[in-house]
Amino acid sequence: MTTTEHRPTAATPSSLHGTSHAPLAAWVAEVAELTQPDAVRWADGSETEWRGITDALVADGTALRLDPARKPDSFLVRSDPDDVARVEDRTFICSRDERDAGPTNNWVDPDVMRAELTGLFRGSMRGRTMYVVPFVMGSLQADPPMFGVEITDSPYVVASMHVMATVGADVLAELERREADFVPCLHSVGAPLEPGQEDVPWPCNETKRIVHFPEERSIWSFGSGYGGNALLGKKCYALRIASVIGRDEGWLAEHMLVLRLTSPRQEVHHLAAAFPSACGKTNLAMLQTTLPGWTAETVGDDIAWIRPDGEGGLTAVNPEAGLFGVAPGTGWSTNPTAMRAVSAGRSIFTNVALTDDGDVWWEGMTDEPPAHLVDWRGESWTPDAGRPAAHPNSRFCTPIHQLPGLAAEYDDPRGVPLSAVLVGGRRRTTVPLVVEARDWRHGTFLAATLSSETTAAATGEVGVVRRDPVAMLPFIGYDAGDYLSHWLAVGEGTDPARRPRVFCVNWFRRGDDGRFLWPGFGENTRVLAWVVDRLEGRGEAVETPVGLVPPAGALDLSGLDVDPADVTAALAVDVEEWRAELPEIEAWLDLLGPTVPQALHDELDGLRRRLR
Ligand code: GDP
Ligand code: PGA
Ligand code: MN
Ligand code: MN
Repeated sequence: MTTTEHRPTAATPSSLHGTSHAPLAAWVAEVAELTQPDAVRWADGSETEWRGITDALVADGTALRLDPARKPDSFLVRSDPDDVARVEDRTFICSRDERDAGPTNNWVDPDVMRAELTGLFRGSMRGRTMYVVPFVMGSLQADPPMFGVEITDSPYVVASMHVMATVGADVLAELERREADFVPCLHSVGAPLEPGQEDVPWPCNETKRIVHFPEERSIWSFGSGYGGNALLGKKCYALRIASVIGRDEGWLAEHMLVLRLTSPRQEVHHLAAAFPSACGKTNLAMLQTTLPGWTAETVGDDIAWIRPDGEGGLTAVNPEAGLFGVAPGTGWSTNPTAMRAVSAGRSIFTNVALTDDGDVWWEGMTDEPPAHLVDWRGESWTPDAGRPAAHPNSRFCTPIHQLPGLAAEYDDPRGVPLSAVLVGGRRRTTVPLVVEARDWRHGTFLAATLSSETTAAATGEVGVVRRDPVAMLPFIGYDAGDYLSHWLAVGEGTDPARRPRVFCVNWFRRGDDGRFLWPGFGENTRVLAWVVDRLEGRGEAVETPVGLVPPAGALDLSGLDVDPADVTAALAVDVEEWRAELPEIEAWLDLLGPTVPQALHDELDGLRRRLR
């Protein structure tokens, strides 16, 4: 199918359809009627479409084309300064029953919310083009493929969806052939244009609503153009709605990277790791190993769909086709793989700084900043400016197939077999570098009570410790206690011999002077090597009140230029610090309420006893 353009007038109602899929045609017509766009365009996912849309973004001042010699076919976009991150306080799970949204989600009665949204969307696309973007999360060869259709009035979102998902004509053809269900994802920046009104580079609305109807499996997003608020296949579908589908079908949608590790003995293990936003998933997914003979390959960097394989094990699929990574801190020394991928072309950079020679820069890309930049707000910047040049949540959006170390299995619909699940957060104190859970139930406790300091990935205060179960706090599409019961059940439903082992890590523990005790990044290889040693039954571990920790000498520190005392401090289990944690954990389980599995209360009792 080719790109078509037509006016949604009553005179040409059939031209609105653009598809033989009757429910899709009906929904598109209904949305056009409600939102009143000037034109409707069906995205075909072609090169021509990418060129047309990116050219138009440049022509209307939304995007800047970077120097093709440095960043081919790549663009810099500056968002509205008030639209820079996910808005968790304006994100809703509108289940029919409030109890099903649970205590960790915002809830509004679905009828009330639908009425409010209908008011907000009425005429919201006036003066704009409405794009219909058929997409699939995961492989189109999966059985069944996980279809979605995003309707959006943001060409920036269409271009980003080209990178982040499989979109366009092939997807639509398969959707039609199967007469399949799809998740309707409706998005508007909420900035209609009156005749003659000039557009702004980043239209958005002060009123923002990111809304999920879990029973209907539909998504409505209004007012924001940014990342997880607007690219609806990602957080809204592949995590919040998919977690509900997984609950009903017996699998898990998780906020996890997936990594394939090969040891010098040619042992292959696939690990999935859940860290909250901006706590190291993308970096670990692209690990540059620092121990001889180890290879790491990326399967996914943000989302994993974990399913029973029918033979007692669990497999993981990465449903995304692109990377939407935190720019600051990504540098040639910390993550050369990501740097090569973003430099290979077809990348959209949002809220980073611009160099005088038409390239991008952000804090941490190089040791020294260039002498002059244009900052993320479009203002002239010099190193003495006293403010960061890139926004702390600035992002690169890049096709995953450009990654040098991509695993061959990255888009295999069968997924990869999981040997271990890691959970981790950003904690200055208390949480050791690595702890192994005694069993799946204890692992579920570590995951359920995971804590981390908040980051710039969501609006709100940064650096505040909060509980973030399995790094899914903002993404669980149903009751958190039910989610933890499901987690327990999926793991305990596996064959013990094939059940993934659970580990908790913390790359971010600090010394008294604020320095990181562990060098992190590529050196995390040393921690993963111990994890593999444990999986292979040869790694040593000591029992502590919080779990199994490597004893002195069990981590391979050869060739590492750090003070061994720092490593000891990073691994330490401080009983006093953990006693202080007990009331926090208790308050957290109480807040989650009566649906928390009893097993987790029993685990807390056990921890309390061991800390006496
Ligand atoms: P994600 O949002 O979970 O994918 O996290 P990223 O991998 O994008 O990292 C977020 C921030 O944490 C970036 O600024 C990274 O440079 C930083 N970071 C990632 N891994 C490490 C690590 O091992 N140690 C330290 N100190 N910082 C890290
Ligand atoms: P992140 O993904 O986890 O890489 O930060 C985006 C997000 O969670 O908002
Ligand atoms: Mn994420
Ligand atoms: Mn990431």
